[in-house]
Amino acid sequence: MRLNKFLSSCGLASRRKCEEYILAGRVSVNGKVADSLGMQVNEKKDVVCVDGTQMKLPSQFEYLKMHKPKGYACTAKDERGRKTIFDLVDSDVRLVHVGRLDYDTEGLIFLTNDGDFANLVTHPKFHFEKEYHVTVEGEMKESELAVLRKGVVENGVRMPAAKVKVLGVEEKFTKLSVIIDEGQNHQVRRMFEAIGKSIRLLKRVRIGAVVLGGLSRGKTKPMTEEEIAFFKGAK
Ligand code: URA
Repeated sequence: MRLNKFLSSCGLASRRKCEEYILAGRVSVNGKVADSLGMQVNEKKDVVCVDGTQMKLPSQFEYLKMHKPKGYACTAKDERGRKTIFDLVDSDVRLVHVGRLDYDTEGLIFLTNDGDFANLVTHPKFHFEKEYHVTVEGEMKESELAVLRKGVVENGVRMPAAKVKVLGVEEKFTKLSVIIDEGQNHQVRRMFEAIGKSIRLLKRVRIGAVVLGGLSRGKTKPMTEEEIAFFKGAK
């Protein structure tokens, strides 16, 4: 396939515009700057980059959403030999997880081989909301909810404010919806620890416009075009 056709099929720009990229020396093939407009590339083997970013045909990207169960680590290889989320995926391509969930947390997580997409979803500047269902022991006082909503103070530093709503109270437990738009390490657990509440169950149910829905524990399914576009449209 001609190089400019390959580049436009990757969604870079029109074929004409792609030729301008080539003439400007911004395109490399297998590490060497492309110097001819008529150059042919093998889309299965050649590594084509524009300004250092690898170009791939859309069909080469995979975007999955997973319902991570509790008891699985978000890592390619766990140093303690525990099960990882990749034990649950059957894919021919090498995927990365987008952000992470703690070993004991369950819920929605994305997997992809599109590094730009992974960076986009986790980039702090976009403030994509993440919604968790949190089950805590006992009841929640209004004053405790107010602290979470304002941002708990941990070691003298205020953590980001959260949107918090009580979803229901059962005999010994309270179920809450907690929405944050940052992704600090163990953020939700730290928030509840700071007010002395013990979390029984932590489950992520939404990232941006994408909901966990009825996806069963341990299962993955491809993200829809609309779900992917929600994030890409924020750029
Ligand atoms: N906050 C946490 O504390 N743990 C998670 O897994 C996700 C968010």
